[in-house]
Amino acid sequence: MLPFSIFAFMATLHQEFLPSAYTNTVTSGSVAWKSPSNIALVKYWGKHGQQLPKNASISFTLDHCATSTRLDFSQKESTGFVITVLLDGKVQEDFVPKIEKFFNVAKPYLPFLEQYSFTLHTSNSFPHSSGIASSASGMSALALCLLDLEDQLRDAPMNADAFRRKASFLARLGSGSASRSIDGGLVVWGEHPEVEGSSDLFAVQYPEEVHPVFQDYCDTVLLVDTGEKVVSSTVGHGLMHGHPFAEQRFAQANANLKAIKPILAKGDLEAFMALVESEALSLHAMMLSSSPYFILMKPATLAIINRIWSFRKETGVPACFTLDAGANVHLLYPAIHKEAVRNLIDAELKAHCKNGAYIHDGVGKGAVRL
Ligand code: PMV
Repeated sequence: MLPFSIFAFMATLHQEFLPSAYTNTVTSGSVAWKSPSNIALVKYWGKHGQQLPKNASISFTLDHCATSTRLDFSQKESTGFVITVLLDGKVQEDFVPKIEKFFNVAKPYLPFLEQYSFTLHTSNSFPHSSGIASSASGMSALALCLLDLEDQLRDAPMNADAFRRKASFLARLGSGSASRSIDGGLVVWGEHPEVEGSSDLFAVQYPEEVHPVFQDYCDTVLLVDTGEKVVSSTVGHGLMHGHPFAEQRFAQANANLKAIKPILAKGDLEAFMALVESEALSLHAMMLSSSPYFILMKPATLAIINRIWSFRKETGVPACFTLDAGANVHLLYPAIHKEAVRNLIDAELKAHCKNGAYIHDGVGKGAVRL
């Protein structure tokens, strides 16, 4: 008889993502994917269980900010994981523990992980020290590479939908927001009664009507701070346990996801900007009121926000900001206002950026096989 703990373990596994027995032998090879970063409009902050979100979130998939990963693999006899990581051609030993941790949780769903030695050749389109989180793009690129290898071991490849769903599921196990980096456009992660097909386990492309203005929306990332964050996302999520405003925050985010539906359908930019900026500030308000409290914004973050507000008032150009878990400002605006906004960036906002650095990006189409 199997011990109870094994039954309990089996019960927590998600059967849909467990592969049937592999039929093919593949001794060595290589696969490669490019996967984008994403920026949340309604934020995920707070998790439970095995990287499950406390509320639903929605993001724009980015285009330019991306990670390219080539995974070389060759069969081995020994047990345990053998992983080498190279970033821009240089061995990065400090990346290995995070990947080993990911392999440990992903192992039931990718039972071949101990049967190969892996070498990851990875590079980011954005500077490594830009302060842009590479975990979403990096983990999703790795998940896609591993799933591509799994496809080679199966008698027939998975259909495209099942492949993307499992890729998002696996990426989530590595980093929550990475689940939203597989598909392009607008992507929802977290079960929500108003979004058909949504799930806590994986992200789905936003299935509702989207006004054309959002299809090529621009995001310029203003790089305020490029150093190591004072508090990591992992610690920040953890501080939502026992946070006095946690339940209200999760309810607010779910209400905002409902509220954004007619905004996205109609292209109501005033309402869009109000919702997106409120989400960003609510996220940071959770940090300010955590115990211990912390601040990730910098003086330049606030200077940029204030200038965006006065620019909007003076010119009527619908440019707004959002923030992720850091000091950088994502400046969001419709493509038709590119020129006016970019003039403002060059004339004034870049002076607040570290070494004057920023990245022009916009809504992208999702991950691609290389
Ligand atoms: O995926 P993580 O654990 O790095 O958390 C990301 C959290 C935010 O970027 C702040 C919000 C989000 O929904 O992406």
